[in-house]
Amino acid sequence: MAAGIIGIGSYVPEKVLTNADLEKIVDTSDDWIVSRTGIKERRICPEDKAASDLGTSAAIRAIEDAGISADEIEMIICATITPDMVFPSTACIIQDKLGIVDIPCFDLSAACSGFIYGLEIARNLVETGRYKNILVVAAECMSRVTDYTDRTTCVLLGDGAAAAIISKIEGDFGILDTYLGAAGKYSNLLYVPAGGSKMPASHQTVEKRLHFMKMEGSTLFRIAVNAMSDSVKKILERNKISPEDIALFIPHQANIRIIQGVAKLAGIPMEKVFLNIEKYGNMSAASVGVALDEAVKSGKIKKGDLICMVSFGAGLTWAANVIRWSKNG
Ligand code: ACO
Repeated sequence: MAAGIIGIGSYVPEKVLTNADLEKIVDTSDDWIVSRTGIKERRICPEDKAASDLGTSAAIRAIEDAGISADEIEMIICATITPDMVFPSTACIIQDKLGIVDIPCFDLSAACSGFIYGLEIARNLVETGRYKNILVVAAECMSRVTDYTDRTTCVLLGDGAAAAIISKIEGDFGILDTYLGAAGKYSNLLYVPAGGSKMPASHQTVEKRLHFMKMEGSTLFRIAVNAMSDSVKKILERNKISPEDIALFIPHQANIRIIQGVAKLAGIPMEKVFLNIEKYGNMSAASVGVALDEAVKSGKIKKGDLICMVSFGAGLTWAANVIRWSKNG
């Protein structure tokens, strides 16, 4: 039995944070940000909302797109590194907001690779025949772990959510293959030091700004280009697919220069690469999902097209999949 995406949706908050806004709070410039990252603006979640609210809005759109009702969903997986709370899981909160009862719900922590990890878990559970419809949500409020006094990270991140319904698919459609990887030895390159069991919140952790993301940008840049291009090459090779067969390549939207490097090494022309980085920046797990939704809704992906998604993030983690798209718009 094959499994694939029968419905997709996304949601980004209305508030826009532009490069001009950032110029007023840190020593940076629109020129630097655009030329070094490709980002022009990003979306920011309102203070009275959280990741579950963004995720619920995306989920409602995915459920509608799938043409099913919420009570037909049999499991919710939420990929997030910015959960509403340490516990309970954001997936449980989304379940309640959707008015669904009595199904398993859990969060998945794989940072920017979380959406592709979630699709792969759902695909395997559907393929066993045990579950019919699984909702995979990627919901991130990266602005809540961003230090707006640190110019090396605050220009990169934004908030948003994406959701997909994974179900049985007839014919040669669906998620054909997924390649997942991780290297915990690099966990010190991208992390939030405090707020977990290692360094619980204290006055000192707050004063030292340890609840915000810390990053070694240039090392990550190099590893990201290698890990993502390698993932693409591996998944294409083992499925005997050439880059020419791919209709659209959907990479994680962290930095335009990373995307260009990956495309070059994997032999994919930039015309086949979907980009929305200039509007949203890096929304962690939500990035590839929002990009996929926008590509489908704008008619860039049609029934029968082969698409390749690829991401990398904190962990470090990386992931790529190949999907034969099964529906129009
Ligand atoms: N504005 C102006 N100058 C800046 C800014 C800024 N916003 N940020 C850094 N600079 C300066 C630096 O201080 C440095 O100055 P110096 O030479 O005087 O020391 C100079 O610009 C160059 O800095 P680099 O770090 O070498 O710049 P680089 O070209 O590597 O770009 C960047 C930095 C954009 C962070 C890049 O390294 C990158 O994108 N890395 C990957 C980030 C990423 O993808 N993170 C993971 C995803 S997040 C997740 O998984 C949750």
